[in-house]
Amino acid sequence: MDAIDKRKSVRIYKETFLSADEITKILHMIENPMTGPNGNEIELEFIVEDLDSRKGKIGTYGFISGKYGAILGWCQKERLSYIDYGYVLENISLKLVDMNLGTCWLGGSFSKKNVIDAMKSSQNGIKSIPAILTVGYEAQGKRLRDFLISGIKRNRMDFNECYFDKDLNIIDDKDKIKILEAVRWSPSAMNRQPVRVIWDESRVHFYLVDAKIELKYIDMGIAMCHFEKRAKEMGMSGSWLVDSNAPDTAWLYMNTFVLD
Ligand SMILES: Cc1cc2nc3c(=O)[nH]c(=O)nc-3n(C[C@H](O)[C@H](O)[C@H](O)COP(=O)(O)O)c2cc1C
Repeated sequence: MDAIDKRKSVRIYKETFLSADEITKILHMIENPMTGPNGNEIELEFIVEDLDSRKGKIGTYGFISGKYGAILGWCQKERLSYIDYGYVLENISLKLVDMNLGTCWLGGSFSKKNVIDAMKSSQNGIKSIPAILTVGYEAQGKRLRDFLISGIKRNRMDFNECYFDKDLNIIDDKDKIKILEAVRWSPSAMNRQPVRVIWDESRVHFYLVDAKIELKYIDMGIAMCHFEKRAKEMGMSGSWLVDSNAPDTAWLYMNTFVLD
């Protein structure tokens, strides 16, 4: 199973904090700023601390338990930057899953003040922290409790409601389906799944159904990360751009992946 298939939100962590070796690996992973598909540089910080034992907890009460750290960064308050933030941090999340660690995005259920207090850098006011990623060892056998805490079922919308060919018909190509399944199972805030895709030959256009809140743009970046990773695994590379000829729809157009 690859990291995309293995990944799920982990809100209940073991009572053992990350090992020194894992901490070093994570710090190494984020030591340089990373560039997202829209060209924004994202600098991440790792709060290497058992965040549950902190006086000012970062997870809203009851949402996250056990011992965990968090990866986060300052992001320009602008939609393409939010996309890049989601893309870059999800890339890290999938690497952590490959290390057998559990992760969870938090958009609403964290205390901004306490997170900022725990960070080394401050760009408060100029930039924001739209969401953070918690990381720790998954406590086994806690899925039901996790569901009861979050109240969110881990299901997804039907494939054919979200992904279409250029004539807005259903997609039946097996490889395309395999790649888009990686998008379908990407995490999204409140599991709202706001991303829609139109696959037109070598151009794959990404849209948002509901773009009123900033977290949807994070969801978009995450979905784009999953798309690119799975496509690459299947031998398809390409690059991201904004395509002025992308089909006009009732959804909000964001980015296009152009296959080589
Ligand atoms: C941007 C973003 C913000 C999220 N915020 C929260 C949160 O505040 N609290 C929470 O428990 N889960 C949060 N989640 C996790 C989602 O609820 C979860 O991804 C979704 O329910 C799908 O479940 P899965 O990740 O296990 O596939 C967030 C996910 C994303 C992508």
